[in-house]
Amino acid sequence: MGYVVPKIRKIFGEWRPPGDKSISHRALMLSALATGESCIRHCLRAGDIHSTLEALRGLGVSIQVDGETAVVRGVGLQGLKNPSHIIDVGNSGTTLRLLSGRLSAQGFSSVLPGDTSLRNRPMGPLIRVLKQMGAQIKAVNECAPISIRACVHPLSAVKVEFPFPSAQFKSALLLAGLYGDGVTEIKEMVNTRDHTERLLKLFGVPVSREEGRIRLEGMRGGNFPARSIEVPGDISAAAFMMTAALLHSDASINIQAVGLNTTRTGFLDIIQMMGAQVAVDPMLQTDPWQEPRGDVSVGSSRLQGVRVSGELTIRAIDEIPLVVLLATQAVGQTLVSDAAVLRYKESDRLRVLARELGQMGASIQETVDGLVIEGPTRLKGGMVRSYHDHRIAMTLVLAGMISDGETEVDEIDSVAISFPGFLEA
Ligand code: S3P
Repeated sequence: MGYVVPKIRKIFGEWRPPGDKSISHRALMLSALATGESCIRHCLRAGDIHSTLEALRGLGVSIQVDGETAVVRGVGLQGLKNPSHIIDVGNSGTTLRLLSGRLSAQGFSSVLPGDTSLRNRPMGPLIRVLKQMGAQIKAVNECAPISIRACVHPLSAVKVEFPFPSAQFKSALLLAGLYGDGVTEIKEMVNTRDHTERLLKLFGVPVSREEGRIRLEGMRGGNFPARSIEVPGDISAAAFMMTAALLHSDASINIQAVGLNTTRTGFLDIIQMMGAQVAVDPMLQTDPWQEPRGDVSVGSSRLQGVRVSGELTIRAIDEIPLVVLLATQAVGQTLVSDAAVLRYKESDRLRVLARELGQMGASIQETVDGLVIEGPTRLKGGMVRSYHDHRIAMTLVLAGMISDGETEVDEIDSVAISFPGFLEA
């Protein structure tokens, strides 16, 4: 379905973002493996989370959802049931990767097909490590569909070093590591989002991090008890509202209770570097393992070009499309590098951004691992393609808001993957 982008006269007021997607997935998965009833508040309701919910229900976990509250009756580390049918993970990379880790240690076989887009996303590096741990896991050309044979021996703990950043691969290995016969150790080249580690600690599982090495001891048949989890607002969803406000000539918004985990706040650092009018007000935190959160105020701003590389790129990985859009309106050159992983998301985001924003008049050059953007340019409307990628679709809607003439974005229904209320927000 195509969407004709309306022009907006003013952006003003207070807004609470939906629950964080990454944290909602992990809260559901770990609660399912705990013993007893966990209550997850402000859990995201969106397509990807639906995939995790239904997959867990298929594995015998009872989950009741009432509005934004999910109550999960955990079955314990050994309690999942054979679903006796394929597990539909839809379009969700996080569901596919995390479940692949967990089901590698399971005493029954499973098949995770994934939709057409997911079947093009790499699984090879994760599968190789899971095999090293003793899992009998197979893929087609290193991608989904994934089939996993029943595991008859405990997994072996491993020491691994991933040559590229991926929080999903790391989390999948931590879930497999819970069933390992010793200490699983994962070395990250660049720190990625640490929500799994934090939640494991909240559940009382000893996991530690020293000099980029994460260590987790296998539970050897033990269990961990249920907990209450408060999911903060999704900074990745909030970044769309912040971008709308920054680009609009009459905007001032206050975004409430948004997640401020420093492994995710790269976008805030980048817009500050660009000269944005932004203020962050962190909330007092009592439990060190609950996720940090706070309010963020943003208003209309004049921006300048910046350099985004290394860990900063990874801390803003899902927000890079927005950084690129902002850069088209900033004075001077913006250079984004170390972002090659964006080529393996729901679309090749580097290629698609250069092509679609380029078609709207932006000056964007693709490099091997990033983009070079010259600004500012006046964008012109037209028909643009989102390649059924939710973050690209939402970025193009914001581009359409500030362009001359009418913009139509195709396949707008993909926004339901992460931010169903986006068009009404
Ligand atoms: C996510 C990790 C990132 C991110 C994705 C969500 C997660 O992917 O881009 O949207 O929840 O762990 P990678 O692990 O592939 O870097």
